[in-house]
Amino acid sequence: MITIKPGFSFWDLCLFIFMFQSQSALAAYTLVYSGNLNGELEPCGCTLEGDFGGIKRQVSMIDQLRQKNPDLIFVSSGGLLIAEMPSDRIRSDYILRGMKLLNYDVIGVQAQDLAFGTEFLTRHSLPFILSNSASNAVFAYQKNLRRQSQTFSFFQWSALPAQSMLKAVHTESSATVKQLRQALIREKKSGAITVVTTTLRLSEAKKILPLKYIDLLIIPSRRDTFTEPTQIDNTLLLQPGARGMRFGVLQFSIKKHGQEARIVDWRHKVIPLPQTLPDSPRTKAWYAAYNAELKADYEKQVRLRTQLEQGKSPYAGAEKCRNCHLPEYQKWKSTQHALAYEDLESVGKNFDPNCIGCHSVGFNRPGGFLNAELTPHLAGVQCESCHGPAQAHVDSIGKTPTGNHQWAKTKICAQCHIDNHSPSFNLETYWPKVAHGKK
Ligand code: HEC
Ligand code: HEC
Ligand code: HEC
Ligand code: HEC
Repeated sequence: MITIKPGFSFWDLCLFIFMFQSQSALAAYTLVYSGNLNGELEPCGCTLEGDFGGIKRQVSMIDQLRQKNPDLIFVSSGGLLIAEMPSDRIRSDYILRGMKLLNYDVIGVQAQDLAFGTEFLTRHSLPFILSNSASNAVFAYQKNLRRQSQTFSFFQWSALPAQSMLKAVHTESSATVKQLRQALIREKKSGAITVVTTTLRLSEAKKILPLKYIDLLIIPSRRDTFTEPTQIDNTLLLQPGARGMRFGVLQFSIKKHGQEARIVDWRHKVIPLPQTLPDSPRTKAWYAAYNAELKADYEKQVRLRTQLEQGKSPYAGAEKCRNCHLPEYQKWKSTQHALAYEDLESVGKNFDPNCIGCHSVGFNRPGGFLNAELTPHLAGVQCESCHGPAQAHVDSIGKTPTGNHQWAKTKICAQCHIDNHSPSFNLETYWPKVAHGKK
């Protein structure tokens, strides 16, 4: 483990890499690895201690390492994204674009990476793998790489929550464990070095995974910092630090025992990515585009907030309708529509602009729903989701008609009850459940 003195310069770093390279001239293979990036596209830079890492420096470093050793293997155990707020979507998208610049050989998929859905990941055509499921049609089950006639087989085992939204990628079962075991045995028999990255803690990994057939096991580090490798029988255990502040480098040779390959003579280094490491010029356009998109989004939010604060919203919220339309209000309150935002919260998706639109009033429109703190009165599917903006109607004591008063029922429902979100929708059976009014 390398610690960095405050005076550590870029040239020290170059020297360090040079020495590192020459020192290990005997080692035949190099694996560069990283763990949970956890949404850290760039360091905040608020403190010197915190100013490590970031994709711009990672690209610089991996380019230098590859220049010296074009054959190195570059792997991430996944956990790239964190999704807590709506703006995390933009950052996540640019993290994935940054992954393209880094040109990883293998990236594991973790549950946290699925926060925006599988398509959010697959559209970037990155080398994702996920080995939990027999019928996982979305991501590659494993990835094999060749280096100097040696095969390396990569697998990813991620603990996934048993959530209905993630139906496309199943959670572990005895069948998927068995399948992994068989795949590992097959690869070992054919002479491959097997590498499994996992989100499991060591105690769980020992219980679930067949360590006997795993040469390299990469598990999360306990304290988010890189840990020295440890040997457990024939398995070498690596624990990458989190947040993209450093890279781990393992150099090793391989010995054949008959058909079977084993890792021998390994050495390990941790490479820091301090402030003194220049940003890669290759990241310039990417970073500019990221900031432009964030800025546009921020300005839009400010505009929406200002409109809201000036009280200009055309939406009134259901509570305002109650006084004059008590029976309609009571009926609505008893339907699922009134709970639509709570239901989104319960699956942890109330930050995702892809979901909020149909589960609130006027989202992304001036004066419409922003979030549960600023606009609690517009959460859920309400009167105005169907009837349209009605503040003017309220102000005029019913003289000004509601926004959608000329809309047919089918048109009203079709805003949200579309095929992939409500496949069994049928006006005949659905309307009676929410019916009110004269007809
Ligand atoms: C195009 C509109 C639309 C979008 C976008 C949308 N939903 Fe829905 N959602 C619906 C409708 C309509 C229903 C009711 C379906 C039914 O019962 O026929 C629903 C129902 C639900 C339910 C309740 C299911 C139940 O069992 O009661 C949840 C939870 C939910 N959606 C979550 C989400 C999440 C998460 C997203 C984003 C990934 C999302 N929705 C995006 C329209 C939408
Ligand atoms: C799911 C969509 C939807 C929601 C939510 C909804 N409405 Fe309606 N509402 C309708 C439709 C559609 C009609 C028209 C029924 C018809 O064609 O007779 C209607 C009819 C009415 C009428 C009667 C109009 C008339 O002349 O018969 C009133 C008043 C009304 N709604 C008020 C409300 C209020 C107040 C709320 C919220 C507390 C509300 N609605 C929520 C869809 C909705
Ligand atoms: C101060 C009383 C008052 C409030 C508050 C009020 N309304 Fe009305 N509303 C009326 C009256 C009066 C009528 C009947 C108008 C008519 O029949 O000409 C009406 C009619 C309606 C109709 C049928 C005609 C149309 O314009 O579509 C709907 C739907 C409706 N209201 C929805 C709402 C909604 C939604 C709210 C809350 C955002 C609301 N109203 C708040 C008084 C009110
Ligand atoms: C703004 C989007 C939106 C509109 C417009 C809308 N719905 Fe919904 N609807 C939803 C959502 C979201 C849910 C799921 C609520 C939940 O369970 O969290 C839902 C659920 C329902 C349910 C409950 C399903 C069940 O099995 O309990 C019925 C019934 C329904 N809608 C009927 C209608 C009808 C009829 C219309 C048109 C008159 C309509 N909705 C218009 C979004 C909408």
